[in-house]
Amino acid sequence: MRATSQFAIFWSFLAVAAYGQQVQAIGNIFKPKATPAESVYHVSLLVMAVCAAIFIVVAGLLTFALVRFRRKCGDHREPAQVYGSDRIEIAWTVIPILIVFVLTMATARIVSATLDKPIPSDALKITVVGHQWWWEIRYPAFRIVTANEVHVPVSTTANPAITFLGLESADVAHSFWIPQLAGKTDLIPNHPNRMWIDPKQEGTFLGNCAEYCGTQHANMRLRVIVQSRADFAKWVAGQQQNAMTDAHIETGRSQFLSLSCVNCHTVSGTAAIGTFGPDLSHLMSRDTLAAGVVPNRVNNLREWIKDPDAVKPGSLMPNMQLTPEQLDEVVTYLSSLK
Ligand code: CUA
Repeated sequence: MRATSQFAIFWSFLAVAAYGQQVQAIGNIFKPKATPAESVYHVSLLVMAVCAAIFIVVAGLLTFALVRFRRKCGDHREPAQVYGSDRIEIAWTVIPILIVFVLTMATARIVSATLDKPIPSDALKITVVGHQWWWEIRYPAFRIVTANEVHVPVSTTANPAITFLGLESADVAHSFWIPQLAGKTDLIPNHPNRMWIDPKQEGTFLGNCAEYCGTQHANMRLRVIVQSRADFAKWVAGQQQNAMTDAHIETGRSQFLSLSCVNCHTVSGTAAIGTFGPDLSHLMSRDTLAAGVVPNRVNNLREWIKDPDAVKPGSLMPNMQLTPEQLDEVVTYLSSLK
């Protein structure tokens, strides 16, 4: 029985490790790259130090008592029975209260400093809307709408760049979490929240929805792409263009526009103006499909449109029952949207 349960534990560890190899790991909170994440990191170090000290004291006293007071050979006397000690009882009440007080104050200081950050007039403002199970990303000042990937400029000492994120939800509660950039903030229906980041290093930072929001909660992935100012400006200019239209994909384009895809998706400069699903105007400029489930490649796009449920079970995108010809034309068109 005991050997069986040990084997079960061993195999579960192995399964978790193997799964960890498959999924793209989200960022490490111990390598913060923005001010709010640094604050979280510092508080977590304090909490861990206090917990480690408590552990050492308790485990040390326990070990000492076990060794020092164990029954000696041939000694059958009952040990002295001790009832109550005012001094010890006061100590184990007052010390924990002091510890909790210190941790509360340290946390409250960080929370209020992060929440009360004033918004500078030149700050970049982005609106993030959580949907089951993807992220809508809007840049109102640039009139850009995209999905699952947030592009922001890097913040340097010479050129500080703070990005403010307004957080909203289209359906249920979600939570925006990029561990290396900031703590979690919930997206609550009808209650806008906000957070800010000042990423100090260029690169791609991964995150995930951090509030259970339905079957595909774990596949509601996020990426923040931190770019130099020049690269960010280039990305903005590209996204502001209308969707590309090549003469040779005209058939695919009219095929797409004749289908009910247009009720849920927008392609700028066309009759497709649906807003229930992600904006597809620059679909191929994104790294992944279905909020990080598969890399954004033509074959994956084809599988996704053919049967969304096979790629992301429970997905709210319906199977459109396209014929192979329709599927080819729609994929040709969508994969031209750079
Ligand atoms: Cu959205 Cu969990």
